[in-house]
Amino acid sequence: MPEVENKRILSGIQPSGVLHIGNYFGAIRQHIDLQENNDCLYFVANYHAMTSISDKQQLEDHTVRVALDYLALGFDPNKATLFLQSDVPEVTELAWMLSTVTPMGLLERAHSYKDKLAKGLNPYHGLFAYPVLMAADILIYDSQLVPVGKDQKQHLEMTRDMAEKFNLTYGDILTIPEELIIPEVAVVPGVDGQKMSKSYNNTIEIFSSYKSLKQRVMNIVTDSKPLEAPKDPDNSTIVDLYKLVATSGEVETMQRKYREGGYGYGHAKKELLEKIWLYFEPHRQRRERLLNNLDYVEQVLSDGASRARERAESLMQRVREAVGILRFQLGRN
Ligand code: ADP
Ligand code: TRP
Repeated sequence: MPEVENKRILSGIQPSGVLHIGNYFGAIRQHIDLQENNDCLYFVANYHAMTSISDKQQLEDHTVRVALDYLALGFDPNKATLFLQSDVPEVTELAWMLSTVTPMGLLERAHSYKDKLAKGLNPYHGLFAYPVLMAADILIYDSQLVPVGKDQKQHLEMTRDMAEKFNLTYGDILTIPEELIIPEVAVVPGVDGQKMSKSYNNTIEIFSSYKSLKQRVMNIVTDSKPLEAPKDPDNSTIVDLYKLVATSGEVETMQRKYREGGYGYGHAKKELLEKIWLYFEPHRQRRERLLNNLDYVEQVLSDGASRARERAESLMQRVREAVGILRFQLGRN
């Protein structure tokens, strides 16, 4: 991750499932590091999640859970701002305005939309318009940098296109943002060896019980080499996961034991299990305390919402003025 300082940073996290260690090592850890030297805004993208979740309880639960998990994983409300997307409803107003300068062709070219069409999904307007809402998320806070995985790169390009078209039409109002692509130093593999993803049902959750964690780790797919046989550490999901949670000395020891033989995959899995459990121990303890103090979590989200909304409102006043939208209730100047 390149050194970044003094930037206005924003990112959104969809509450579409339970967070897994791929999300942590591939995104959350970097989000949390960035809060040290930047002005970071992170939000739970619950409007966006409506494109995949239509169960009320599930959306509510996942939304709170993501906020809770971020706090447990080291998000510090004294250094950065955490809020719910829906606490700044102005974002849907800006999304509408952006949609009036967004060519259909631009949205039709979106990979994420085309992928879903190709899978035979019956597309809804919300899915089609997803990038417009995402652009509004970014532009409404005058964001300069947006840390995301490379799958989101095109959405950032579309955001810039929309902002440029808007500025061309109405004057220089929107800040043109840059993406900060989180390097895939670690594409974290799932228990089946493919990229870990909730869509593949191969995840290891960050916060599960020891028993469920054990079940998942013991389910990691390996070849069927017997215990005595030497094994290849460069081609092993267990070793790849171990690298994320163990010291380099510990990794070298495991690699040596693989090569020597007399060390079974079952042994390696047990060591991996203990390390994962230990790695997240401080976070688990913090999460326990937060669970007993949900008022605090609510307070963090409510303070975050006020800060975010103030920023959004100041931009929206300039935007409304520029496009000629009158709001008698707010007064005119
Ligand atoms: P999922 O694939 O489980 O649906 P998301 O697409 O919601 O995960 O990913 C949220 C963030 O976590 C993204 O920034 C993405 O790049 C990162 N991420 C997800 N899975 C992995 C993985 N296996 N390895 C590295 N990063 C990942
Ligand atoms: N589309 C992003 C994802 O699936 C989530 C998201 C919504 C987002 N709005 C955003 C990310 C704004 C960055 C900025 O991961």
